[in-house]
Amino acid sequence: MSFSFIQLADTQFGMSAGLSGKSDDEIAAFAARGLKVNKEPKFEGFAPETQAFEEAIKQANERKSEFVVVCGDMINNPESSDERDEFMRIASQLNDDIPMYWIAGNHDVAADTVTPTPASVAAYRQHWGDDYYSFQHGDASFIALNTSVMDHPEHVIGESESQMSFLKAELEAAKKRDASQIIVFTHYPLFLESSHEEDTYFSVRREHRMPVLGLLQEYGVSAVFAGHWHRNNYAQHDGMLMVATGAVGYPLGDDDSGYRVVDVNDDQISHNYYEFGFR
Ligand SMILES: [Fe+2]
Repeated sequence: MSFSFIQLADTQFGMSAGLSGKSDDEIAAFAARGLKVNKEPKFEGFAPETQAFEEAIKQANERKSEFVVVCGDMINNPESSDERDEFMRIASQLNDDIPMYWIAGNHDVAADTVTPTPASVAAYRQHWGDDYYSFQHGDASFIALNTSVMDHPEHVIGESESQMSFLKAELEAAKKRDASQIIVFTHYPLFLESSHEEDTYFSVRREHRMPVLGLLQEYGVSAVFAGHWHRNNYAQHDGMLMVATGAVGYPLGDDDSGYRVVDVNDDQISHNYYEFGFR
């Protein structure tokens, strides 16, 4: 059985306004971290994100995607109900027969956008639902993880352990069910180039990465799809694809805003990134 779904990342309502009006020095500081920020007058609101997410939903409807997943950072300010309401308004334009899933990004689940707390995780669950869960589509099994809790477990005692137990149980269940493919969705990529790379802001720290990678490898996970870097990035670990997808919202690298179509077959996964082409 084959089917395709659409993977989105970093719709991040409010980010463009937040990065508008930056000085030359500030833009240079971003550039020193490899991040492209545009010089433009200061503005408020989230008009660029509205345009981009509406286009993504239109494409998903036209392509009759089997489902849509947003790999985190739905919004920029975790405490903004305006940003959340706008995301939900546009998400509701997806055809009723296309399920939508979303993943906890650091801008959704951590008040300081880095380190989740019991209050910030509770707020996420109240507004967005479960931060880790699984679902089936066709013969394939999908597992969604909260990489903020994985990467910064220090203030949420027991959460990361619970998630690891959940992951192991779900992988075991997928194996029992003889899933054609096991695919994992995260916000942070587990790594950018190689599984043993040094820690950076843009992937899960090695200390927390390796135990998860070990499990994914043990159960033959086919691919992990992530976001967070606001550009496309492709890596592998023992045959497992590690794909970071460019942002629907503000791009921080050379890739324009866009979306990824993933084709799942019994014996392979192929995927393509499509730019919106309006920036
Ligand atoms: Fe982001």
